[in-house]
Parts: sequence; C-alpha cells; structure tokens
Amino acid sequence: MKRLSTVLMLFFAIACNNANHKENSKNDSVTLLSRGAYQQDVMGKKVDLFVLSNKNKMTVYITNYGGRIVSVNVPDKSGTFVDVVLGYDSLKHYFDRKENYFGALIGRYGNRIAKGKFELDGKQYQLAINNAPNALHGGPTGFHNQVWDAKQIDSQSLELSYVSRDMEEGYPGTLTVNVLYRLTDDNSIEISYKATTDKKTVLNLTNHSYFNLNGAGSGTINDHLLTINADKFTPVDSTLIPTGILADVAGTSFDFRKSKAIGDSVNSSSEQIKNGKGYDHNFVLNRKTASDMELAATVYTSVTGIKLDVFTQEPGIQFYGGNFLDSSLLGKKDLHYSYRTAFCLETQHFPNAPNQHSFASTELVPGKTYQTKTIYKFSVQ
Ligand code: BGC
Repeated sequence: MKRLSTVLMLFFAIACNNANHKENSKNDSVTLLSRGAYQQDVMGKKVDLFVLSNKNKMTVYITNYGGRIVSVNVPDKSGTFVDVVLGYDSLKHYFDRKENYFGALIGRYGNRIAKGKFELDGKQYQLAINNAPNALHGGPTGFHNQVWDAKQIDSQSLELSYVSRDMEEGYPGTLTVNVLYRLTDDNSIEISYKATTDKKTVLNLTNHSYFNLNGAGSGTINDHLLTINADKFTPVDSTLIPTGILADVAGTSFDFRKSKAIGDSVNSSSEQIKNGKGYDHNFVLNRKTASDMELAATVYTSVTGIKLDVFTQEPGIQFYGGNFLDSSLLGKKDLHYSYRTAFCLETQHFPNAPNQHSFASTELVPGKTYQTKTIYKFSVQ
C-alpha cells in the first residue's frame, strides 16, 4: 500500500512538473479553427468565422459575433507560427464561459463611465451598472455581444457593420458603425472605425484583444518588455475611475518610456497598483500631432522574438495586465488562461470622459463622422 502511494505521488509530481513546464514554455503551434464551430444563428442573424491571410501566411480569424478576433498566427524568430491572442475554439464558449471580452469590438463606450451616468444637453442618461458601481465596455449587450453584418472584401480584409438603435444600452441616437479589419503584407492588423449618429451621443470604440507573444496559454507575460510612449497617465480611484489628474509617470511603476519588463513593478506597493490590482490604467500618449497615426506602444519577448508595435490616432491607451484572468478559464486547445498570462493595449479616449470635461470630448453629433484607426504590427527581432 505504502509502495503504491509512493508510486502515485511520484506520478503526480511528474504530471505537475509537466503541466508547469507547459505553462512556462512557448506555445508554438498554429491554431486551426473549425468554421463549423462558429456557424450558428444568433438573435436571428448568421454568425460565421472569417479568415484573413497575407503573403507571409500570417492568418487572422475573426467572427462577426462581437466582431471578435479569435486567433492571430504570426511567425516567430525561427519561422514557426504562434497564435498570440486569447480566444475560444468554438462560438458556444463565448456564451458559456466568463466574459472577458476576448478580442471583441467594444462599444458604445470602451472603458468605464462613473456610476453609469452622464449628461448631454441637460438630459441625464443612465446606463447599466455592469461593473459595480460603474458601467463598463458598453454594457451587457454592448457591441461585443452583437452579431455584426459581415462582408469579406478580399482575402485580406473584412468589413463589419452594426446599427445600434436609439437608447440601446441607454445611449441616445441611432448609431451606424462600420469597422474594417485589414491584414497587410507587412504583418499588420489595421482596424479602421467609422460611425455616424442621428442624435448627439457619446462614443469610444476599441478592440479588446488579449496578447501573449509567447503564445496564448503559454504562461505569464511578466517577462514581456513593454514600452509606452507616455509621459503621463490617468490615476484612478479604487473603482478604476480616473481622478481627473494627469500624473507624471517619472519615478513611478508606470514609467514605461524605456523598455521595461511588465513584471518589474507589477507587485509594487503603490496605491495605483493596488487600485488597479496590477496594471489596469489609461496612459496619456505623447503625440506630435492631434490625431495622426503615431507609435503608442511596443511589446517584445526574447522567447519567440516576436515584437508588437501599436500605432493609433487615439489620445490614450489602456494597459491591462490580465489581473482578472484565472486558471479556471479554458481557452483554445484546452489551454488555461491564468492570472496575468495576457495583456491588452486598448487604444481609446480616456475613461469617464463624458463626466470629466477636462478630458478630450467623446461626443458625436449628427452630420459628423467618427473616424479612427489603430494598427497592431507584428515583426521579429
Ligand atoms: C478593463 C479591466 C477589465 C477588463 C476585462 C479592461 O479593459 O480595464 O478592468 O477587467 O477590461 O473586462
């Protein structure tokens, strides 16, 4: 009996060791998704899975359910393809697993609005409180949970459109949104957003991809080197609403002006790190122009040699370090998406701008077109 239990313990130790090894090494296999696992009618509309591919054989899988990027397969330094975003193998898991907004298009308002309230022309609007005590990412039936109309233009571009009705999720105005995903031959994913409204409204669109440049599900991102082109960030209260101050990053855990490992100060005792439970903050991008395309952030890992450059026309970027991921999450290929094993770089206007009038306005009026673009460019170094 004693011998049996020793053998069992040994077996268990080896199994755990293997599992840990899997957690910390790179996950260098391309993801092949089944289109059938995504083809379903949802709310009377057809959901499907689309694939973009370029001359370098890079592939990007996108579903029109929530306009979500499901998989991004990029070559690493040895030419092996690595899937660098979190997501699910099948559409049903976006319904039956915890909502983390994997790869989704976020709207109408990316990030938080304090107490879910704002005022436009003297009229008060109340949104759903889905991240108590605030509203987050457009509410429970925000754009991440809508079926977009999809038109594959060619093998490298997909156009998604969605008409959000007046007062949907509490926001005024019928809003017509158009998003163009384009995979270019320099291994960039370009996301171009356009929107018009028939009544004054607020709008802050973004994409919520979670990246791990060693491969989704391959372990922590704390070793990834991050640079953010920002001298300032917007400190938050304990509910993650900006205080309104633009604080200097110099001398704080938020100084990523020179490349630094994400894990370097992620556990620092600073009040801001405590409020965010790690990094979950908006950075004020240094801009040469008001809204031209400029480099906002770079991430690099020596394990795969993959580098990600983020360019945007937006004034801010939310750096979120995956503090709410936990190992119960089973993603593609049944890999666990544990605590801090992915990061998001969500280009945006600042959180709570509708109530914080010192921040750039997020209002959109009839007759004007909202237009903005972000590029995620992959290379090896
Ligand atoms: C937010 C986080 C949130 C995450 C997933 C991020 O954009 O800043 O606080 O947990 O999205 O919902």
